[in-house]
Amino acid sequence: MTTRIEKFSRESVAEAAELLANRRVVAIPTETVYGLAANALDKEMWGVREIFRVKGRPQDNPLIVHVSGMKMLRPLVTEIPDIALRLAERFWGGPLTMIFPKSALVSDVISGGLDTVAVRMPASEAALEIIKKCGFPLAAPSANLSGKPSPTTAAHVYEDMNGKIPLIIDGGECNVGVESTVVCFKDGKIRVLRPGGITAEALSEYGEVEVDKAVTVQPDKGEKVLSPGMKYKHYSPKADVYIVNAHGEDFRQYCLKRARYENDLLALGAGVREEGIFLDCGGSPELQARRLFSLLRRADELGAKTVLVEMPQKGGVGLAVYNRLLRAAAFRIIEV
Ligand code: TXA
Ligand code: MG
Repeated sequence: MTTRIEKFSRESVAEAAELLANRRVVAIPTETVYGLAANALDKEMWGVREIFRVKGRPQDNPLIVHVSGMKMLRPLVTEIPDIALRLAERFWGGPLTMIFPKSALVSDVISGGLDTVAVRMPASEAALEIIKKCGFPLAAPSANLSGKPSPTTAAHVYEDMNGKIPLIIDGGECNVGVESTVVCFKDGKIRVLRPGGITAEALSEYGEVEVDKAVTVQPDKGEKVLSPGMKYKHYSPKADVYIVNAHGEDFRQYCLKRARYENDLLALGAGVREEGIFLDCGGSPELQARRLFSLLRRADELGAKTVLVEMPQKGGVGLAVYNRLLRAAAFRIIEV
């Protein structure tokens, strides 16, 4: 199969919608990362099964269903808590995914056998146009091969999906750069299962927020986690990634010292000047979120064997950066 990349336009939206109606898989831009989309309501789950196949995704890792508004949400769920209504009002369309008890309309293939469904309304104009044109919700995980860094450009999607899907809609570089915040509701509290573009701080204006332990602590083997995605190795380039718990000049000196006896070493520093082994991952949490996955892919292109990353700030979107980095680094932190 040849994979075409088409710029977001009225024509390409129509073509994407037609392929999706014909149970095919299409890569679409969102404000977080690119998604690999299929019709979430197709009875045979033709496209959705194809998503699992082309990504190499474990069957028990459920997909997020993307809607264009509340009207599309209601039939998918049996209950919408008040707090979810308030959060949707404030943060949709945007990078917030909420977990609801699922209705019979949502297949077990999507929910990975759980009795809940994860739903979000994206902010991206391209994503919304495609969903509206389809008239049905789209199940869409990130459009990377399972285990690889999520794609933030159409070119990243092409790297992973060339020959596997018919069409990639190119909406430019993703604004947020890390996946959506995933929350569920328990005992009247908002529980963050995966940190993302909507911060815990922002959510806390709407209720008590608990950040799930699995966000920053490695789950034990066989331990049950609320968000199945958290137990898999993730976001990994070919290089060995380490987080270095040092900043500024201390980080620099540590990296330079290691580079003296190690070949193919790259260092990602916050707001550093790009020279020698150093790449700049951005001076603010927002910039770091936008650049992280792209830099991990670039490290592969440059043939890095080791990637040392400066410990990010953990507040705001920084928590999402830290969460993704911990997984890319298989939880290895070097204390200097
Ligand atoms: O920003 C995003 O959310 C992107 C774009 C494409 O929208 N999508 C995305 O999907 O990141 P994916 O499949 O890569 O991640 C979905 C996460 C996984 O960690 C999965 O375990 C969790 O959401 N999830 C999905 N359904 C769930 C459910 N019913 N209960 C708990 N966690 C769920
Ligand atoms: Mg993913």
